[in-house]
Amino acid sequence: MSLKISVIYGSTRDGRQGIKFAKYIQNELSNRGNNAILIDPMNISIETLTKRYIDYNKGSAPIELEKMHQELDSSDAFVIVSAEYNHFMPPALINILDHFYSEYQRKPSAVTTYSVSPFGGVRVSSPLKAFLAQLGMPPIPAMIHAPFVNKNFNDAGERISEDKEERNKEFIRFSEELEWYANALKTARNK
Ligand SMILES: Cc1cc2nc3c(=O)[nH]c(=O)nc-3n(C[C@H](O)[C@H](O)[C@H](O)COP(=O)(O)O)c2cc1C
Repeated sequence: MSLKISVIYGSTRDGRQGIKFAKYIQNELSNRGNNAILIDPMNISIETLTKRYIDYNKGSAPIELEKMHQELDSSDAFVIVSAEYNHFMPPALINILDHFYSEYQRKPSAVTTYSVSPFGGVRVSSPLKAFLAQLGMPPIPAMIHAPFVNKNFNDAGERISEDKEERNKEFIRFSEELEWYANALKTARNK
């Protein structure tokens, strides 16, 4: 079954590094035959939350929110690409996700984290998983953590680390798990 997967990245920082990893995730999911789109807060003029999409009267939401609604609503799964800012999620990521709710329901999410440190942002996983569960997109157990993101990925979104082969195998296991849940829940939603 063809799957649409939204890859949601959440840094608006000057000189941001995680965009390389976000592109890698999008590229690898696309190479597996998925329709993977990248949602990047720098490409969307979305302000700090004043109204959620649902708070606008039908047809009166700003065009950017309307487009985002359509992309998220037509997605079968969500991959969150999160930095670790003081062991928590970046504000732009929380802001994007908080603008929507019904679009996520009964669809799986997957956590991917990164940092410039050896820990790969692993400490943000727990608060992020709790957040995603509350949003209605249950997180799958499989995760990807990317340490030294500034060195291990290039601007084209290619992994250039020495352990590339091993990490690619890990990505296949991660993707297979996400696709399983996405297909199962898509079938259930369509019934
Ligand atoms: C506000 C802030 C807090 C940070 N906190 C952490 C942290 O808790 N753990 C960590 O490993 N790196 C931390 N870092 C370093 C980030 O891993 C690094 O800046 C990374 O490139 C951030 O992602 P971005 O470039 O996509 O914004 C922090 C960076 C910032 C700007």
